[in-house]
Amino acid sequence: MSASGWPITLLLVRLFGSATSSPVSMYTPAPTLPSQISPPLPTSFPFLPSPSLSVPSHIPPFISSSAESTERLHCPLTMSPSTLVVRFGDPVKANCSIPRMGFSALGWEVSSETAEITVDRFKVWSVKNLTVWSINVTCFALSEHGGQCNLALPVIIYQPPDRVSITLVNHTGPMFEGYQYTLQCTVQDVAPVENLVVTFYRGDTALGQVQSNNTTERTPVTEIFTLGIIPTKEDNGAQYWCDAKLELGPEGPQHPPVVTSQKLSATVLFGPQLSCPTKLQVREGESLKCNVTGNPEPSVTWIRDGQVIVLPNHSSRAHAGKYIVWTEGFLGQKNFTVEVEVLAGSGTANTCNGHFLLAVLVTQMIHWL
Ligand SMILES: *[C@@H]1O[C@H](CO)[C@@H](O)[C@H](O)[C@H]1NC(C)=O
Ligand SMILES: *[C@@H]1O[C@H](CO)[C@@H](O)[C@H](O)[C@H]1NC(C)=O
Ligand SMILES: *[C@@H]1O[C@H](CO)[C@@H](O)[C@H](O)[C@H]1NC(C)=O
Ligand SMILES: *[C@@H]1O[C@H](CO)[C@@H](O)[C@H](O)[C@H]1NC(C)=O
Ligand SMILES: *[C@@H]1O[C@H](CO)[C@@H](O)[C@H](O)[C@H]1NC(C)=O
Ligand SMILES: *[C@@H]1O[C@H](CO)[C@@H](O)[C@H](O)[C@H]1NC(C)=O
Ligand SMILES: *[C@@H]1O[C@H](CO)[C@@H](O)[C@H](O)[C@H]1NC(C)=O
Ligand SMILES: *[C@@H]1O[C@H](CO)[C@@H](O)[C@H](O)[C@H]1NC(C)=O
Ligand SMILES: *[C@@H]1O[C@H](CO)[C@@H](O)[C@H](O)[C@H]1NC(C)=O
Repeated sequence: MSASGWPITLLLVRLFGSATSSPVSMYTPAPTLPSQISPPLPTSFPFLPSPSLSVPSHIPPFISSSAESTERLHCPLTMSPSTLVVRFGDPVKANCSIPRMGFSALGWEVSSETAEITVDRFKVWSVKNLTVWSINVTCFALSEHGGQCNLALPVIIYQPPDRVSITLVNHTGPMFEGYQYTLQCTVQDVAPVENLVVTFYRGDTALGQVQSNNTTERTPVTEIFTLGIIPTKEDNGAQYWCDAKLELGPEGPQHPPVVTSQKLSATVLFGPQLSCPTKLQVREGESLKCNVTGNPEPSVTWIRDGQVIVLPNHSSRAHAGKYIVWTEGFLGQKNFTVEVEVLAGSGTANTCNGHFLLAVLVTQMIHWL
């Protein structure tokens, strides 16, 4: 209890009890005149015999809800900062002030304990090291006309994650193209997890953001966030990573704390993919070639009349004909039937373009192992 012996705590609770609404609603930035203060209530402070400290149903019946909200609207307290964002263990300081006369006292209540009160126009609450994870801080002023007003100071006590790491769920080693995998970002010992935003990246590209559903936990927690991916062959060699950022609002640190995971290099197995022009034409002297891609590098075998052919570096007309291109990779094999036409050397090719074309039949047989 205060030095003057007023039952301040009980008094506070009268208004507090119904203060489950946003504390901001109690604050009016517009200047108010003393005459706007509600007329004295039938029973003046100090008085309240409320037996409970926190239950709304114990609001004394002589205060109608409209009277109470009127009183709140005229509550002229201002607070600096308006929201306290503090790293666990750091010092804190907040200044509550009342810009005009008509109030006999000003004070802070911190987690149900009334700090000393003052008759000055402002009161500073400070702590050298804030080492609790949950704290309720309210500034109150007592009106000379009886009654009081109070203003809660929202406090965010944060701790950046100790460590952030990324893995693939239930998977090690290379991934297969087109299959679904789950990236998992583990964020260790962060508070409050409600303010955490986890972003997954592939290289410089943000893939998605996830947030915790836990809006109540104030102490540090370790939480796992996931994101599904379906890698393509372009993702072979890409680096996946995640970061965890505490978004603490305008009153928070200028650069929100971010902790980044290690990089996860992806190996994506794919192929074989074989792209042969439907009409495979080469000039005399050029090599026979189809484009085959895959990881690992697929083998390519050219077969003609049942014989494996060593591809010529310099083709001649004798190499025209029907081939099977057989490619075999880690994920399967494909056979193409290709008819090759060898055009005459560059001198005659232009004039005869299209003239020497043979019908080219390409059939593709795909067998996935
Ligand atoms: C607290 O705020 C009041 C009003 O803005 C100001 O006059 C006073 O100097 C402040 N006190 C401190 C210690 O910041
Ligand atoms: C703060 O207030 C809430 C709601 O009244 C209560 O549940 C919580 O225990 C209080 N915390 C502290 C540290 O007093
Ligand atoms: C309290 O804060 C001071 C200064 O910020 C710091 O040097 C000290 O280690 C802290 N003490 C504890 C117990 O956290
Ligand atoms: C990972 O494997 C474990 C044990 O094999 C299993 O219990 C768990 O459900 C799997 N998780 C996922 C996301 O598939
Ligand atoms: C949060 O809840 C939503 C919907 O229930 C869910 O899709 C999401 O995965 C949850 N996030 C986490 C991190 O658990
Ligand atoms: C929040 O996290 C705490 C601790 O991990 C847990 O006990 C609580 O059930 C969680 N609440 C929700 C809504 O997920
Ligand atoms: C082979 O195909 C890849 C991808 O389809 C392409 O980037 C590359 O240029 C092609 N190479 C040749 C020689 O056609
Ligand atoms: C094609 O040239 C390479 C070197 O350029 C040589 O190793 C290879 O034996 C040649 N192939 C044929 C069929 O001549
Ligand atoms: C492709 O052709 C080779 C050689 O004729 C044969 O051994 C293989 O089974 C064929 N593969 C498919 C998928 O038809």
